[in-house]
Amino acid sequence: KASWISSEPEIKESYLRPCPFFRKEFELSGKVRSARVYVTAQGLYQLFLNGKKVSDDLFTPGWTSFNKRLQYQTYDVTSLLGERNAVGAIVGNGWFCGNIGWNGGKGYYGDKPSFLMQMQITYTDGTTELVISDSNWKTSTGPILSSDIYHGESYDANLEMPGWNKVGFSDGKWVAVSTPQIPKNMLTAPQGVPVKAIREIKPVKLLTTPKGETVFDMGQNMVGWVRLTVSGQKGKTVILKFAEVLDKEGNFYTDNLRAAKATDTYTLKGEGEEVYEPFFTFHGFRFVKIDGFPGTLSTDQITGVVIHSEMAERGTFSCSDSLINQLQHNIQWGQRGNFLDVPTDCPQRDERLGWTGDAQVFAMTAAFNFDVAAFYTKWLKDVAADQLPDGKVPHVIPDVLKGGGGSTAWADASLIVPWTVYQVYNDRRILEEQYPSMKAWVEYMKNRAGEDYLWTGDSHFGDWLAFATTRSDYPGATTEKDLIATAYYCYSSKLLSRIAGITGNDSDAQAYASLAEKIKKAFNAEFVTANGRLVSHTQTAYTLALAFDLLPDELASKAAAYLAGDVRKFGHLTTGFVGTPLLCETLSSHGYEDLAFMLLTRKKYPSWLYPVTQGATTIWERWDGQKPDGSFQDVGMNSFNHYAYGAIGEWLYGYVGGIRSDPEKPGYQHFLLSPHPGGGLTFANTSFQSMYGEIRSDWKTEGDDLIYEVVIPANTTATITLPGAESGRVTLNSNPLDQKMSGKLSQTEKDVSLQLGSGKYRFQYPAN
Ligand code: BGC
Repeated sequence: KASWISSEPEIKESYLRPCPFFRKEFELSGKVRSARVYVTAQGLYQLFLNGKKVSDDLFTPGWTSFNKRLQYQTYDVTSLLGERNAVGAIVGNGWFCGNIGWNGGKGYYGDKPSFLMQMQITYTDGTTELVISDSNWKTSTGPILSSDIYHGESYDANLEMPGWNKVGFSDGKWVAVSTPQIPKNMLTAPQGVPVKAIREIKPVKLLTTPKGETVFDMGQNMVGWVRLTVSGQKGKTVILKFAEVLDKEGNFYTDNLRAAKATDTYTLKGEGEEVYEPFFTFHGFRFVKIDGFPGTLSTDQITGVVIHSEMAERGTFSCSDSLINQLQHNIQWGQRGNFLDVPTDCPQRDERLGWTGDAQVFAMTAAFNFDVAAFYTKWLKDVAADQLPDGKVPHVIPDVLKGGGGSTAWADASLIVPWTVYQVYNDRRILEEQYPSMKAWVEYMKNRAGEDYLWTGDSHFGDWLAFATTRSDYPGATTEKDLIATAYYCYSSKLLSRIAGITGNDSDAQAYASLAEKIKKAFNAEFVTANGRLVSHTQTAYTLALAFDLLPDELASKAAAYLAGDVRKFGHLTTGFVGTPLLCETLSSHGYEDLAFMLLTRKKYPSWLYPVTQGATTIWERWDGQKPDGSFQDVGMNSFNHYAYGAIGEWLYGYVGGIRSDPEKPGYQHFLLSPHPGGGLTFANTSFQSMYGEIRSDWKTEGDDLIYEVVIPANTTATITLPGAESGRVTLNSNPLDQKMSGKLSQTEKDVSLQLGSGKYRFQYPAN
């Protein structure tokens, strides 16, 4: 029943304009039994009832493919209502009509923000009443002079309107709203989780840089904003600027933010202590430069507010190497910073988009760290909504890049992410609901590939940001894009076949299995020699061929040997976004655990630990974002908070730590446990909160023995594999294993494995 309402604040440079405020008073005629408000905006809104914020959700209504799916929130407001009431809303540009994308794109979905609200009141006598947004509301601008996700916010406290959202405010200067004709048929209830302020951190230091600038160090590259506490003269303006890093001289460095101004300004009203935090912007930063602060500064003046989608923490991993522990910390903070309603590439520069490739490679790691079931469920709806009629999946979701899409390994997020959610949470429905989208993507590839089953000639991102050198005899590791595309085409077809089987699409299951077989054959004929050598002799090429099971059995070990040889030759990884996530897993599952651990524990560039040795507190976009001499990579693309390479987390949890889901028994109904001491580690403790409860996998070396303690929660079972063990020399809870376990035990040359039900178990055996 409600009408969209809007106003016409004047637009300034860069699409910056004051945020409109809306208000209305109303009286109720009886005793309220219950009241709910349904509310949304084209833009971002904050809703108040009788002066109180209705919810602590942030960045509502969230970011979706707005023209097809616009979420509304529902709040119980029973306790906020009285006899006479005032409802008020502040609305910002946000993703809907602010700056978005790096091409200076503005107003992507529309040119001004609008607001929509319907409050449904039920009285104790059963009668009902509606309070709705309509032409009776009034609007004004206020203290928020401009607000933009990339550029930050500008606030003049002298323009505050005390009591504007309470009864009795005199709104004589406010004007009537307009009621634009905007459809409502795209409204949808949220399926995800809201963004919240999750924690607060205090600066660890207040610095004066060599240039003489005053800079707070938060000690952590974080996403959110700072709350400023200040007192001083009316009209003074404090300017806060945000940066991820200092340069090699120790100066405040923002070139890598590109066009994002990332600046908040606050103008004082001069009435004692004033506290400000922004409404509709966020920054990715560790350092905060402050200008114009009246009085003496201390670290008390600001507090970092960390915001992200509300996801419960699920996994822990720690081991005897403090650098690897810092890596794990960085992976988790990368996720905190980039799970802000949409899985983004980065949170700081003029980008912050839902890049599908990044999301795909990180999905399983993400699911170890946090509960991401609802978060991805919501995002996948937009993957399907923004998919093009020919099945092409856009590069970023929600798609604000106008038409770009169809890149191998990026677009496959449409299958891999729901498959991950299914594996971790046994959510068959997500496979059913995404099925048309998955199938459309595979059909798109099929059309592009044509009758030879090779997907060649299209443009792709390829093994993005792979190792490059300036050496004239070896420019770097370039993996042919046609090879990557055909490999993913095969992998996704196979996955689709499997998913079709699970969802009861039996004829599809057969059809895509046979398609995958044909692609595999074509792949071998085109890209693989009779000796198992690939036309791109790179780590990424071998990794994909092996990880996706593209080679005949007799060639797999030869290809693995080529891969191992290449890793040995360089002594480091040469992979980019496509190869890196699967590299250690591929090495360790083909008998090259030592090389996988070498890559993990290497400290020099390129490696996971190199950024850690440089003081990183999040994952960098590039292996050498900041070089050993302190200089930076190209400003055009140098994020210090990009989770893609954090995909090594899956191997830390799954291999080093030893907890893995069993794809045949999704949702951890049954799972796999196995300790893997290596790389000089003396212990690793890993836990995962599955839906059945906590799983633990803790190993340590003690003298010549390996001690392995596990917890299997109630109503689940696990297969325990003890690498290098001989069953006669293993004890379980201090008793010889053989006696207790007959029938459930199997011994191979390589290991002992056994089936166990719920409980806590302690194994001990000679490690080698
Ligand atoms: C993003 C990436 C993304 C890539 C596409 C970059 O601008 O930051 O993370 O996947 O473009 O190759």
